[in-house]
Parts: sequence; structure tokens; C-alpha cells
Amino acid sequence: MPALSPSLTDITGGGSDGWEVFMRARKMIADGTPVTELTIGEHDIRTDPSILAAMDAAARGGHTGYAMVPGITALRAEVARRVQERTGTPTSIENVMITPGGQSALFAAHLAACPKGAKALFIDPYYATYPGTLRAIGAIVTPIKTQAEDGFQPRAADIDAAAHGAASLLINSPNNPTGVVYTRAALEGIAEVCKRHDLWLISDEVYDTQIWQGAHISPRTLDGMAERTLVIGSMSKSHAMTGSRVGWIVGPREAIAHLTNLATHTTYGVAGFVQDAALFALKQGRSFEQKIGAPFKRRRALSVDILAEQNVVKMIPANGAMYVMLDIRATGLSGDAFANRLLDARHIAVMPGESFGRAAAGHIRVAMTIDDAAYAKALRALCAFAATLCE
Ligand SMILES: Cc1ncc(COP(=O)(O)O)c(C=O)c1O
Repeated sequence: MPALSPSLTDITGGGSDGWEVFMRARKMIADGTPVTELTIGEHDIRTDPSILAAMDAAARGGHTGYAMVPGITALRAEVARRVQERTGTPTSIENVMITPGGQSALFAAHLAACPKGAKALFIDPYYATYPGTLRAIGAIVTPIKTQAEDGFQPRAADIDAAAHGAASLLINSPNNPTGVVYTRAALEGIAEVCKRHDLWLISDEVYDTQIWQGAHISPRTLDGMAERTLVIGSMSKSHAMTGSRVGWIVGPREAIAHLTNLATHTTYGVAGFVQDAALFALKQGRSFEQKIGAPFKRRRALSVDILAEQNVVKMIPANGAMYVMLDIRATGLSGDAFANRLLDARHIAVMPGESFGRAAAGHIRVAMTIDDAAYAKALRALCAFAATLCE
């Protein structure tokens, strides 16, 4: 076989991908050992039958040919309407491109914002695909550490110090893996740095409907930011449609026009019947989104109560998303060692904080994606296990 291009082979960066515990848990399950799986960010419900019915009706009704590349007009219009209604920032169809999921939107947005060889900044801890996405577009991967002691809120001064030679900054609030929702002050600091250094801000808001305390603030709404912000949205988390692969980019018209050229030469758009289903889902409004988010809201409250019963494991204040980040430094173990020992001793699988960057070392991420009773039992067992390590 001829050599594969480094554009492809360099994507993973050669290191560990952080999914070893997950893979080991999967193997144990395949070998017949019951494992409580708290690793992956996917709902414990499937896509609602009403959405599937809309998809089926659209496909049977003939929407199976090529769909318009930037997205069908009705879906782009609905996304624009929803964004404008929720943020107050004027948004029209020309500001929206539909993508096959948030992940491809992240890739496209960085290709738009960050020339080869420029620094692409992002906040650590981060969603596991970020560094690979940035390497795939030839950017210099530049994480900016946040501190557990700051509740993993980004500090503008740290971003400012790294901004020389950068073209873009990627942020994610509500955050995966920490569940942290960025404060207005943090976002205003970020906006100032972006303006000062003429950076694009890429704002990954795929968890924007999952806020358990406080409010979601889209940085695109901040003064002077609409012209330099590309917002990443998705149906995956808000509507339990992970497998349908529908997301979007909201940004300046000129950027969306160029991004449409990229889509023409890469994905050629998103299946029309899937877009019709997404349109149906969005039209169900906020109450549907609250129904999808409700289990995580409940389990987050359960987590607060269970963690309050002991003092070895500490919870990072999680105000959104479907995860809690737990500080297990009192056990003296790394997140990686703790997760591996927990899997072996108690058959509970969680993600080591180290899978999400250096800032979350000594932490573990727990996905609240199993039913309440099983979740509570697993979290209590996890805390009891941590206590045995301190004896
Ligand atoms: C922070 C974050 N961004 C983007 C994605 C990608 O979502 P999708 O491609 O399913 O829209 C995920 C998925 O877990 C995520 O956690």
C-alpha cells in the first residue's frame, strides 16, 4: 500500500485516545461480566417515535433525493427563528447552514476560521474529539488549561497570554466533560480577548437546552461578537437524535456562503427526510426539549445529595449537560488509575479525567445515562470504593 497522507495519519496525534477504560468495559460486557456503564454521552432513551414517524412519512412521501446543500429552507428558517427568539440576536436563513451533526460542523467551522499553521485555541478540559479535529485542518493545537479550583471557568488572562499567532478560540458551554456552564463574566472576558486579537470564536453549544441552574448565554449575543462567532448546534443531545446526524453552524452570511462551498465538495448536505424529521422535532418546542433533559436534571440533583453523604469525592458544580465531574484527588490516585481500579473492583465504568486533557487530571467524568435507581446505586458504590482507598 502506498503511504497514507499525514493529513489522515496525524489526526490522532499518536498518543492514547483516552478510551481504554471504555474499551475494556465493552470487552468485559462482551465476555459476560455485568458492568455499569457511565462512560458515554448518550441518552438512555431512543429517538421519540413521533420523530421517527415524521422521518418515515418524509421518506415515503418522496424526500429521498438530493437535498439542498446548505439545508432545506424550512429547517434553516426554523433554526434561525429559534436562535433569534432565544438569544435576541437577529438571525436569518443566510446565517444558518445545516450539517451532518455537530462534529462535522466543528470541523467545517475550524476550516473556515483557522488557516493551516495558525494556532487554534481551545479550553482544557475538552470534548475528546477537539484536538483531532484541529489537527485534521492543520492547525497548531493549543489547549488552555482551566483550574478545578476555579470550577473550570476559563480565565481571560490565560487566553490572552496564548493568543499571539492564533486565529480561533473554541469554547463549549454547557461543557462536556465538566457539566460547567460559563458565567457571563467569563464569556465577556473571552469576547474581549477575541476582539483584541481578532480571533474567530467557535462556540460549541450542543448542550444549550440542558441547563440545570442559571442560564445559557450564547457569546454571539455579546457586543460586537455576531460578526466573529460561529455557533455549533445539534439535534443529538437536545432531541435524543444522536444517530440522525443533524446539526448546524450559525454565523456571518459570508462565512455561511463559503461554508456552503465546502459542504458542496465534502458532504453534499444532509438527507432530506432526516431534515424533515429535525424540523418536526424542533417544532415540538421547549416542552419536548425539557422532557428529553429531565432525567439528567433529576440525576444531577441525586448526585448532589449522594455526594453530600461523604467527604472523599468532591463534585465540580455542574449546572448543565449530562455529566458530572468528580474530584478524586483525595484517594491519591490519578483519574486513570481510579477508573481502572473501579472497573476491576466494582464493575463500574467511568471516564478518567485525563481523557479530556491535563486540566482534569485526578478527576473522573460520570455520564448520568442510566436509570435513576441504578445511577444512585452506582454513585454510592463509587463513593464507598473511594473511601476504601483512603483507609
Ligand atoms: C461538546 C460536544 N460537542 C459536539 C459533539 C458532537 O455531537 P454530534 O456530532 O452528535 O452533534 C458532542 C458529542 O458528544 C459533544 O459532547
